[in-house]
Amino acid sequence: MKILVTGGAGFIGSAVVRQAIAAGHQVVNLDALTYAACLDNVAEAATSDRYAFVQADLRDRPALDAALAEHRPDAIMHLAAESHVDRSIDGPGAFIETNITGTYNLLEAARAYWTAAGRPESFRLHHISTDEVFGSLGPEGQFTEDTAYDPRSPYSASKAASDHLVRAWHETYGLPVVLTNCSNNYGPYHFPEKLIPVVILKALAGDPIPVYGAGENVRDWLYVEDHADALLTVLQRGALGRSYNIGGENEARNIDIVRTICAILDRMRPKDTPHADQITFVTDRPGHDMRYAIDPGRIREELGWRPSVTLEQGLEKTVTWYLENEPWWRALQDRQGVGTRLGQAS
Ligand SMILES: NC(=O)c1ccc[n+]([C@@H]2O[C@H](COP(=O)([O-])OP(=O)(O)OC[C@H]3O[C@@H](n4cnc5c(N)ncnc54)[C@H](O)[C@@H]3O)[C@@H](O)[C@H]2O)c1
Repeated sequence: MKILVTGGAGFIGSAVVRQAIAAGHQVVNLDALTYAACLDNVAEAATSDRYAFVQADLRDRPALDAALAEHRPDAIMHLAAESHVDRSIDGPGAFIETNITGTYNLLEAARAYWTAAGRPESFRLHHISTDEVFGSLGPEGQFTEDTAYDPRSPYSASKAASDHLVRAWHETYGLPVVLTNCSNNYGPYHFPEKLIPVVILKALAGDPIPVYGAGENVRDWLYVEDHADALLTVLQRGALGRSYNIGGENEARNIDIVRTICAILDRMRPKDTPHADQITFVTDRPGHDMRYAIDPGRIREELGWRPSVTLEQGLEKTVTWYLENEPWWRALQDRQGVGTRLGQAS
């Protein structure tokens, strides 16, 4: 299959590109190369003659039309987005432009391309979204595909809007789509502004390890390679117009994640004092959702997909990867905003 992946130079998109190439697919990686992109993430896949790269911005409709006309994909996997909640608090405009208007442009470009090709039933546009569109849970319950949308940050509101557009283009124009909403990802090539890489790198540097609020917020952690596998499964076998929640079956409080990483580093990089001594509680994120948890029943029962690693295994692999790939993360630490506290609002 020839798959056009938007956002293939980002964290999850690059895992999709690597796995799709390894599985024998042709891949067109379309990415604007924002601050969050890193083409090194796909360096090995890029040596394949089944890989092509297009630098294009979702906000540039003619560029999307040109990429589709030139490469003629069988499917589109749409991952390109502004993705950091803290940045969405400081500057929501880019989230509206890329996540909403950009998705609209992609839907219209895909519709024109699909219509001109005779509306093939086999075509798929797979929209990748987040569990954050469902809002915040109390201590009990899980998000299902039928949970009402209740986004609470500029990021999650922009993703919710994009999900609604994708469903509308399916219902109104018949565009063949599938959707997925996943929980928090972690793993290799995670950009060093997100919680898990921040903890690893601050711990290694001997700096204070910032934990928002009391660290009580609960997330359902999904290893990125498992997520990419789930996405390729849904693309190929998911039912038309249907959405699937993807979770790692790994709920944990932030403070427990931080302590686990510190304990792994105490073993792998021992020093005189425990890394956990560096933990520092800082002002909470405004509107910080308390708990996310995914009910993965639909993808498990209909498509037979389950995550392959536990949280402990995934964190062990992740810490090992950061220790072995210092040049990768060092090169990203100079990027704008990395290593500083963002998203405190006023
Ligand atoms: N990371 C997570 O835990 C998580 C969880 C749930 C859902 N998601 C969703 O998965 C997708 C990928 O997330 P990620 O963490 O890999 O993001 P990321 O920030 O690591 O990568 C995003 C990529 O999109 C590209 N991009 C941004 N704006 C663009 C534009 N206007 N035109 C073209 N390319 C553009 C960037 O250059 C970057 O390569 C996003 O849609 C995100 O909402 C992520």
